[in-house]
Amino acid sequence: MTHSHDTHHHTHGHGHTHGHGDHHDAETMATALDLDAAVNGHYLDEVSDLIAALVPEPRTIIDLGSGTGTGTLALARRFTSSQVIALDNSTDLLERVARAAQQAGLDGRVRTVPADLDSALPDDITDVDVAWASSTLHHFADAQALLLSTFRALRPGGVLAVVEIERPPTFLPRHSAEGEMEQRLHEAILGRGWNGGWNGRPDWAPTITAAGFEIVETRDIPTDLANPPAATTDYAVEWLSRVRAGLTDVASADDLAAVDRLLHDDNPASLRRRDDLVVRSSRIAWIARRPEIS
Ligand SMILES: C[S@@+](CC[C@H](N)C(=O)[O-])C[C@H]1O[C@@H](n2cnc3c(N)ncnc32)[C@H](O)[C@@H]1O
Repeated sequence: MTHSHDTHHHTHGHGHTHGHGDHHDAETMATALDLDAAVNGHYLDEVSDLIAALVPEPRTIIDLGSGTGTGTLALARRFTSSQVIALDNSTDLLERVARAAQQAGLDGRVRTVPADLDSALPDDITDVDVAWASSTLHHFADAQALLLSTFRALRPGGVLAVVEIERPPTFLPRHSAEGEMEQRLHEAILGRGWNGGWNGRPDWAPTITAAGFEIVETRDIPTDLANPPAATTDYAVEWLSRVRAGLTDVASADDLAAVDRLLHDDNPASLRRRDDLVVRSSRIAWIARRPEIS
């Protein structure tokens, strides 16, 4: 499995590096993650509902690769008697989680723990009721080993929720020249492998099952916003800029020129000047459980 195709990292190196670019990388990634949550955040409620149906009052929740804390905070809000442990190997991002938790008045129930999750959880994470891994499994060198370690850290009956982006977002009306262009770029992204080398739809089911879990539900969560929130413009610009940088060798010169027109703010048809943006994308959630008797 490769690590190189997640567009969160695409143009800015990998999560494992510890060079001078780290702070800038974290800044760039944080912006992308927060915009994604602002626009696509409805999946958080939907997946939380699925978890609540299995574990109504979790005490200990872990967020594997918490990023800026999108999942951590949503879970802490939703499960009001829980402690949520945010784990990530970026201390920059964990600081953001801690700050956001404090601003939300949730810092009493949110803990941040720096950890390299490439193949295992820290040993002292035990008695977990819910493990959450959103857009992260494909980052870890040995997701199988990490899930095995997660299985052991969960109480019997505990829940694992894995979420991945299935279709990266598109923003232009489908039946326009630009919409068709965007569709071609989209196919090129998918063709290069997406979210860790999946060519098309990611499928974590075999890895989850091999770690001992039983899959309770696999849920498609589409986003289809005809009147998207204001953050969509920034999200679209950020997204398309990264796509532009990653596809120079794949897309046609015409398509790249069209992308540039969308990104140049002085162009009347640029993203920032349009009022017809939409958002279409989708995620997949796998809800799995450590059997009561295993
Ligand atoms: C695409 S972000 C997802 C963040 C968050 N879960 C969300 O859904 O918004 C991936 C996260 O995994 C973290 N990460 C990548 N490799 C890691 C590793 N080996 N150990 C711990 N965290 C890692 C990154 O720092 C980043 O915060």
